[in-house]
Amino acid sequence: MKRPLTVLILMAFSLAALAQQPAANRPTLVAGIPVNYQEDSVGSYELPDLLTGADGQKVTNAKVWTRKRRPELLKLVEEIQFGKMPPRPKAMRFHAVDPGTSVFNGKAIRKQVVVYFTSDTADHKMNLVIYLPSAVKKPVPLLMNISFSAYNQIIDDPGLRVGTIWSREGKKVRADKPTPFGKLNVEQFLEAGMGFATVYYGDIEPDFKEGIQYGIRKTYLKPNQTGPAANEWGAISAWAWGLSRAMDYFETDKQIDATRIALQGASRLGKAVLWAGIHDTRFKVVVASISGEGGAALSRRNFGETIGHITDPSRYLYQFAANYHTYSDKVNSLPIDGHVLVALMAPRPLLLQTGSTDYWSDPKGEFLSAVAAAPVYKLFGKTAPETTVMPPAEDTSLLMNHLGYFMHEGGHAVLPTDWPRIIAYLKKYL
Ligand code: GCU
Repeated sequence: MKRPLTVLILMAFSLAALAQQPAANRPTLVAGIPVNYQEDSVGSYELPDLLTGADGQKVTNAKVWTRKRRPELLKLVEEIQFGKMPPRPKAMRFHAVDPGTSVFNGKAIRKQVVVYFTSDTADHKMNLVIYLPSAVKKPVPLLMNISFSAYNQIIDDPGLRVGTIWSREGKKVRADKPTPFGKLNVEQFLEAGMGFATVYYGDIEPDFKEGIQYGIRKTYLKPNQTGPAANEWGAISAWAWGLSRAMDYFETDKQIDATRIALQGASRLGKAVLWAGIHDTRFKVVVASISGEGGAALSRRNFGETIGHITDPSRYLYQFAANYHTYSDKVNSLPIDGHVLVALMAPRPLLLQTGSTDYWSDPKGEFLSAVAAAPVYKLFGKTAPETTVMPPAEDTSLLMNHLGYFMHEGGHAVLPTDWPRIIAYLKKYL
C-alpha cells in the first residue's frame, strides 16, 4: 500500500522524536526505600499555608507578603533545605580571555570570561561563555544556562577554549570528548534577539560527596570544620552562588542588560536555578526544567522521589543543607514544601518545564505546587494556573502565564522541541 508523502514525513518525524526521548523514568527501589507511583497511595497531606504569617496574621496584600511573609519563608528554605551561602567574595576578579569575537557568520559576538572566585588563580575559577546577537545595538537581555558539560562540549564553535570536567573517579580532566548530553543550538536565542551564556556547574563545586574537598565550599571552612554546618550550603547552594557571581559579571558588561537576565537549568540544576532566582532577586526570570523533588515538586506527595530518597547519605545529601535530611521520615512537619519555592519567585516570571513520563520527578507534583502558589502571584495581579485539572502533555494553555507550566510528551529531559516554547516565554517576559 502506498502512503501519501505527508504521512511518511510525519512518521519519520515522530520516530525521530521518539529516538531522542529518554525512557520512562521510574526506578522502584532507591537507597533501599520503595518508590510509590500509585495515585491512590500518595497519602493525604496539608500544605503549609503561604498566606498566614508565623504570628498567625493573614497576608492579604502584596506589601505584607514582600515585607513580612516572604522573608520568613526564605529563611526557612535557606536554613532547612539548601543552606546559607556567603556573600560576594572580596577577592573575586573577572578576566575576559576572549573580549569579543565575531562568530556564526557575523550573527554573534562571543566572549569568554574567567571568573576567579579567590586570589588563587590556579583553582576556583568559573569559565563563562557569552553570545550576544550582533544585530542588537543596545544592551541585550540574556539567558544564563547552567550545564552538566563544559561549554566547548555542547556548542559547535571551533573558537571555544577546552574546559575541564570532573571524571567519575573525582579527577579534573580535559573536556575534549563529546558529552552524552548532546549539543545546544545557540543561534535560536540570537535570532530571538537575546543573548545566551552558559557555565559548567563543576567549575563551581563538584557533584559528588567528596566534592567538599575540592570545590568553592572548601575555601570557606573554618580551621576546625570538615564540612559545612547543618544550616550551611550544600552543593545546590554553591551552584546558585556561582550563578550570582555570573550576575556580578553581567553588571559590569555594558553590552549586557543585567536587569534582564533569565536563568535556566535542568534536574538538580533546575533546583539550583530555582534557588538562585529566589535568593538573588537580580534575576528577572527563571526557567526550572524537570526540577522534581527538592525543586518545584511537592515533597508531601509520596510519589516518585521523596526527601528520604534524595537526602539518603549514599545519594544526594551533599547537595542540601544537612538539616533537610532530618525531615526524611516526618515530611508532614516540614514548615515548607515545593509550593513555597514557587511562591518565593513571585511576582517575577517562573516557568516550570516537566515531562509526562518522568514519574520519578513527579510532574503532577510540580503542577499542584504551581496551583498552591497561584494565590501569591495573584496578590501581585500576575497570571497563574486557574485550574486544578492537570493539563495533558504538550498542552500549552498554562505555558504563557507569569507562573507558567508546560509538560512535554516524554521523559526526564529538555527536548529540542522545548526550546522554542521556552524562547516564546522569554520573549514575552524578558
Ligand atoms: C537524580 C535525583 C534527582 C535529580 C536527578 C538529576 O535522579 O534523584 O533528584 O533531579 O538525579 O539531576 O538528573
